[in-house]
Formats: sequence, structure tokens, C-alpha cells
Amino acid sequence: YDIFHCGWLLQLKEKSFTKLCSTKSILTVNDSFPGPIIRVHKGDTAFVTVHNQGKYGVTIHWHGVREPRDPWSDGPENITQCPIQPGTSFTQKVAFTLEEGTLWWHAHSSWTRATVHGVIVILPANGTSYPFPEPYGQETLIIGEWYKGDVMQIINSALATGDEPITSDAYTINGQPGDFYNCSKETTYRFLIDYGKTYLFRIINAAMNEELVFGVANHNLTVVGIDAAYTKPLNTNFIAITPGQTMDVLITANQKRGFYYIAASPFYDGTAMYDNTTTTAILQYSGNYTPPSSSIPMPILPALNDSGMIFNFTKSLRGLASQDHPAKVPTNVTRKIYMTVSMNELPCQNPNGSCLGPNGTRLASSLNNISFQIPQIDILKAYYWNISGVFSEDFPDQPPFFYNFTGDTRSNTLIPSTGTRVLMFDYNEVVELVWQGTSALTAENHGMHLHGFSFFVVGVGTGNFNNVTDPKSYNLIDPPEVNTIGLPKDGWLAMRFVANNPGVWFMHCHLERHASWGMHTVLIVRDGGTMQTSMVPPPKYMPPCS
Ligand code: C2O
Ligand code: CU
Repeated sequence: YDIFHCGWLLQLKEKSFTKLCSTKSILTVNDSFPGPIIRVHKGDTAFVTVHNQGKYGVTIHWHGVREPRDPWSDGPENITQCPIQPGTSFTQKVAFTLEEGTLWWHAHSSWTRATVHGVIVILPANGTSYPFPEPYGQETLIIGEWYKGDVMQIINSALATGDEPITSDAYTINGQPGDFYNCSKETTYRFLIDYGKTYLFRIINAAMNEELVFGVANHNLTVVGIDAAYTKPLNTNFIAITPGQTMDVLITANQKRGFYYIAASPFYDGTAMYDNTTTTAILQYSGNYTPPSSSIPMPILPALNDSGMIFNFTKSLRGLASQDHPAKVPTNVTRKIYMTVSMNELPCQNPNGSCLGPNGTRLASSLNNISFQIPQIDILKAYYWNISGVFSEDFPDQPPFFYNFTGDTRSNTLIPSTGTRVLMFDYNEVVELVWQGTSALTAENHGMHLHGFSFFVVGVGTGNFNNVTDPKSYNLIDPPEVNTIGLPKDGWLAMRFVANNPGVWFMHCHLERHASWGMHTVLIVRDGGTMQTSMVPPPKYMPPCS
């Protein structure tokens, strides 16, 4: 192992919280919601021991940490490990070798991440600095969702009936719903700032099911990083942030001393209705002054379904691409993958009657028309120890047929197949992957996420991808480098990466309801033939599969 830098203990335990005038028990880490902030410097390695004192098996994932050659520490349940059962512990080695900025950690078992998550701050390596003037202060701002009910019951009953899961009751900023919700005014989160200073806000969308828009009244935002990679400074008055994404934003306290609302509300361009409420926090100037007597100003945010604004925001993001932070955009593509991302319906399997999905079916979702089945034994174990019958190596590089993806809705040919089919890569293949949104059942935006890699977003567009004309407009100079990105409704998004991280890596939509319905697959990158290009051996102890 590398030099030991720090050890952390995460204790999973049920604890009662009162929000929105009602009390319930949730699974927490170290008794807090959101969980503890992990602060490291680039280059550090942390050994994190997760001790599960809860009621059910859980796994923990380090979202956006690439874990070079070490999928054993990645965490998605039944993909790289089996769950950490109640009463047991598991130690994961988390190496922050490539990332700098903000990431987060979260449970990766069914919907447990609703309450089990926290921020990861990765400061510049000792002796190096930010590619922007050192901010006077730093804040973390993690947006979550609060359900009055039990989240595991909510998703399990939705899966049993085939219907949409019920929506959350509030969004939260650092665990607090804010002024606009019942019984929440006293606990609204406040950020205290000094006049004239610039602050780095590390913002995470940890919500379960909604892309969000976010802004601060009367204050400009300057995006300087996404997913722990720096960007060219982008001045804006709102950001759009999809579940899983992290954004580093500079805010200068240059307004009249007083109070200003910070707000986040959903962006939703689909047809099913989701929690359409607004969470707020307060930006509060410190010092002695008489606050303006008028009410607290609210930021002006794009409308609930303003796809155009969101699309333009995604399109305007640029990687920093400087001498110190060069963009290593792959150019000699050796493998092209075209992948449809769809909502679907599947025949009802409910033994006690019909399902509550469209026309008595159950809701499903798919990539390349395959609705992924999570196996009982983790894929990493099956791959490493050659256990057959767990998965098949035949996820296709193309959808099974072509049609007007964004024009046609329902078609019988769009009934997906189910299976545990994975995408295989040789070491160092240069991959271009185009995600194509469809309107198979409903057209929606999707927050596409890949474990084990960052990828360059070289192109994004609306409608069907055209493989002759669209590549001509690719940005190969300064595309943003991310691990999660919003695929626009009825649109496409082209990304590139080099398959240089041997291991087993999950790819999925980070909208949790879509993931629950099968919107994922797994990438396996084969070993490269030398020690340095191969997976590290497993740690002595991995949680057993029952
Ligand atoms: Cu945020 Cu599969 O993870
Ligand atoms: Cu999705």
C-alpha cells in the first residue's frame, strides 16, 4: 500500500430527525445528515472503515474518485462488492491521485443514498494553488431531498406496483428545507460572509431524482470547476446541476449589506410530476448594519421546464485547458459506441394482479434497449474469479435497430430485453460514446454517470445524432472533463475517454428512479499485460455475498 495519510471511520446508524413537522428515523453516518465532510489534499490516500450498525446491508461509493486499477474500493452494490451486512465492517482504500476540487461520497445500495452521503473536498496538493485568486473563504453546499416516509419502503413499493415512486416532500440545503416549508424557518441554513470578500462555494446535487437550477439573489456566480476538474471561469446568474454533479462556484460579497436568498428548485421537462418546491438558504452579510427592511430578495431562476436555458448552460461549459491543467482530449478514436437512453414499459410480473404503470405494465428503463438486471453476486468477483453465469460480455456497441429516436413514441419493438450484459474493453482503447436520448415512452433528461473515469464532453445537441455532420462541431480544444453530465431531453451527447483503468466500472443514470428501473450497464476494462496496467489484487477481506 501507499503511504498512509489518514484513516476515517464512518459509522452507519439509525437516528431520529424532525423535519417538516414530523419525526422519523433515518440511516445516518456518524449521527449526522448530511454526513461528515471528508477533507484531503490531492495526492492523499485515505483508508475509510465503514462500520454498519444499521438494519440492512449497505455499500459506500466515492463518487468521481477514479481509483486507478482498484475497483475493489469503488462500492456499487453487487457490481464491485456485496453489501456490508449489519454488525460488520469494511475498509476501503480511497486514493485521491487525479482529482482536485469537489466530489462526494454516498451509499450505493438501492435508495439508501437519500440520507447516507457527504461532501469530499480535495484541496490542491501541498505547494500548489488554485488556478484563480485564493478565495477568502470556502463553503460546502449539498442539496438533498427529504421524504417524510421511509425511502426504502417508497422505492420497494413502487417496484412492486410498477408505478412511479412517490415524490419527496422537500429539497434541502445542508440538510435544511428552508423558509418556504412548514416548520423549517428556524433551521434555515445561513452562510455568514464578509463584505467585499470572495468565497468558493462547493455545490453538490445529492437529490435523488431531480436536476436542479440554483442561484443567489443579486449575486453573480462564476463557475470555476466541475466534478473536481477546473473550468474556464463561466459567469452566470444560475447553474443547472444534475444529480451526482458537483460545481465549484466563486461568489463575491459585493452587494448592500443584508440578507439574500440562495435557492434551488427542480428542472423537469418530462411528463410525470415531481416535487416542484424550492429550498432556500440565506446569504447573510456579517457586521453591524441595519438590514434593509424589505423582504429578502429571491434569485430569478429558469422556469421548471425551460429546456433551452439548461441546454445552453451545459453547452457553455469549457474545460480550463491551461498549461498547468492541460486538456488531454483523446483524438485517435478506436472504438465508437452509440447508446440509446430510454424510458420503457415491461410486462407486469405482479403475481397479485395488474401493475400500475402505463396500460397495466410496469415502468422500466434501458440503455441500447437492455434493461439491466443487477446480479446476486458482484460482477467484479465473478470477473476476477471466473465465476460463470453471473453476467455476459455482450452489451452491444449499437442499439438493436435504428428508428427516429426522438420522434417516435411508443412502439412494440421498443420493449426492452432484460439481462446482465456488460461492455468489454481492451486496455487503452480510445472510446467515443454517444448517448442518445429517446422518446420511447416519455422523453426526459438524464444525468449520465460513469465510475472509474472522467470523460470529455466533446459535443451536445438536440434531436437525433448525425454521425456525419455532428462530429464536425466537436470541441476537441477545451471540452469540460466530468464524471456526470445532463443528457438533454430528446438530445444527444458525445464524450471521449481512454480505457486505461482496468477493472469493473458501473455506468448509470443518476436519477435514482431511472436507475431502479434498469438504466445502467457495466464497463469491464481488461488488464494491459504488465503489473502497472493491471488491476490490483483484492484486499484480504471483501464483504461476502449471501
Ligand atoms: Cu454517484 Cu454510481 O454513483
Ligand atoms: Cu435517467
